[in-house]
Amino acid sequence: MNDSLKYRAAVAALDEVRAGMTLGLGTGSTVTHYIRELGRRVGEGLEVRAVATSLRSEALAREVGVPIVTFADVASLDLTVDGADEVSPQLDLTKGLGGALVREKVVARASERFVIVVDDSKIVDRLGTRSPIPVEVVPFASDVVSRRLRAIGGEPRLRRVDGEPFVSDNGNHVVDWRVEPIDDPAALERDLKGITGVVDSGLFTNMADRVIVAGASGVRSLERSP
Ligand code: 5RP
Repeated sequence: MNDSLKYRAAVAALDEVRAGMTLGLGTGSTVTHYIRELGRRVGEGLEVRAVATSLRSEALAREVGVPIVTFADVASLDLTVDGADEVSPQLDLTKGLGGALVREKVVARASERFVIVVDDSKIVDRLGTRSPIPVEVVPFASDVVSRRLRAIGGEPRLRRVDGEPFVSDNGNHVVDWRVEPIDDPAALERDLKGITGVVDSGLFTNMADRVIVAGASGVRSLERSP
């Protein structure tokens, strides 16, 4: 949770940005640094446009001068930079503690390249070690889905803010599912997607091309093996 490490990982991702690109903008405190720095470069003349993964990233991008477009305007993106809550040695991810997981997955899947920026506290041996798995659900189905998750194992809990159910930008609720460290995250991601009432989960398997990790000894880059 070191903000200067988050900053260092985030600005390192700007090396990937080229003039003319259509970008995906992630959500969270790490990517906030990236969006601010991107805005500074746009102010210096860099021409890019971007689709945001949340209303708050969109608002920040507009504030710092990054032109915002939507999927009505563009069919695909060149590069998305986003944060993560956990990163495994295979570069599988847990995402969504910030509540933007569905739009984040939509944007990442529309991107040619998906780059993750984290501080080294996010690196784990197995997903599920430090973070619950956020599961976005249609509000009507939240109790049904929670019972299904409890039957699979672990402890699901409806996310609340100030005592009220958290509402995503899509108008849905999020169940945070605390599980034992996961052996096969790709299979679990598929299984979760198959539960009626689940919109999607915060498991992002086989998606990240590169993870930029900032730690006390510097910034390192983990690349997906071909
Ligand atoms: C939001 C996310 C974030 O990328 C993730 O929670 C990491 O956030 P932060 O950079 O604040 O640690 O998935 O839905």
